[in-house]
Amino acid sequence: MAEPVALDAVRRALTAVMEPELHRDIISLNMVRDLRAEDGVVSLRLVLTTPACPLKDRIEGDIRSALEGKVPGVAAVRVSWDSDVTSARGLPGRQEVPGVRNTVAVSAGKGGVGKTTVSVNVAVALAQSGAHVGLLDADIYGPNVPIMMGISEQPRAGASGKMLPLSACGVEVVSFGTILKPGQPVVWRGPLLAKAVREFLYEVEWGLLDYLIIDLPPGTGDIQLSLAQSIPLSGAVVVTTPQDVSIADVSRGIEMFTQLRLPVLGIVENMSGFICAHCGERTDVFGSGGGRQLAERYGLPLLGEVPLDPRVRTGGGDGQPLMAAAPASPAGLVFRGVAERIAAEISKRNFAATEGPEMPAGPRIAVRP
Ligand SMILES: Nc1ncnc2c1ncn2[C@@H]1O[C@H](COP(=O)(O)OP(=O)(O)OP(=O)(O)O)[C@@H](O)[C@H]1O
Ligand SMILES: [Mg+2]
Repeated sequence: MAEPVALDAVRRALTAVMEPELHRDIISLNMVRDLRAEDGVVSLRLVLTTPACPLKDRIEGDIRSALEGKVPGVAAVRVSWDSDVTSARGLPGRQEVPGVRNTVAVSAGKGGVGKTTVSVNVAVALAQSGAHVGLLDADIYGPNVPIMMGISEQPRAGASGKMLPLSACGVEVVSFGTILKPGQPVVWRGPLLAKAVREFLYEVEWGLLDYLIIDLPPGTGDIQLSLAQSIPLSGAVVVTTPQDVSIADVSRGIEMFTQLRLPVLGIVENMSGFICAHCGERTDVFGSGGGRQLAERYGLPLLGEVPLDPRVRTGGGDGQPLMAAAPASPAGLVFRGVAERIAAEISKRNFAATEGPEMPAGPRIAVRP
């Protein structure tokens, strides 16, 4: 007959296990649920602040070391995972998007650096982790998201009369590209464009979303400014290429967000070297380290360095983004890391904003298997 396990002792022992990003113990963070002990087997459900958490193995290892051989009677530990993504605190004067917990703008100082590529692949990576994810293509001048995600249908209206997003690769997608006629010129400027994007944001039945990724139009001009000022953003991600650092546009973008008090979650360096598909050797086509230098200069996280890979452009050949076609490729692994780092930055900021020991209660969202 196994020695009975005292759950109080288990709970006390678990106060030594820290959440590595939030630097608080998992008991005071209220992350441990359904704690049980039966025949020496302790089981618990750990509720993370994001399903895109790369540190599960480490946390599980820490839980085992805190319990096995330390708390009397514990012969084995079983951890199951769950998540409850925290919500960003609303910004004054900005209407929240119903059902949407966090909004992330993807921006770049100039066109063609891979903003849409990063938006699409990060959205797919977050969805693959089990999060509920939306993607708004706010780039009205070059709405490329439908092409990259293989979407050709037109959106329908839901029961409420609001537009329903189109689903692709597990992501809820809304794009100007699906409602504009091919070749239709876009004459909106600045504030009018921001108004159009706002309508898109609020007149869509998004459902419950953990993360809404917004692919912003290029540039740091008045369009971006009007948008960043009028929509609720949890933060922005800035995409650059290795040779871009000297270009003042990137810095201007970061400074614009800083002035608007919008957190820049980090920098993604895209087209960062070419990895040969045959021998795996890396060649720095455009130089390297630009993203890192920029990140250091502004004290921002470097979220990842995405290599040049022809599959990023072609995906699966049928309009599938790389993250869906080849998630285990070198670029795919970097995109997954970028998604995890974005999710971690959001969790940290939401936690710092609430400053409470308990995670804010919200409607529970089941994690997809
Ligand atoms: N890491 C990469 N490897 C290979 N090709 C890439 C990579 N990143 C982007 N590309 C390709 O470069 C082109 C530009 O990328 P993308 O459309 O994402 O840039 P953008 O910043 O959104 O451009 P725009 O300013 O026109 O919106 C696309 O054809 C894309 O497939
Ligand atoms: Mg684009």
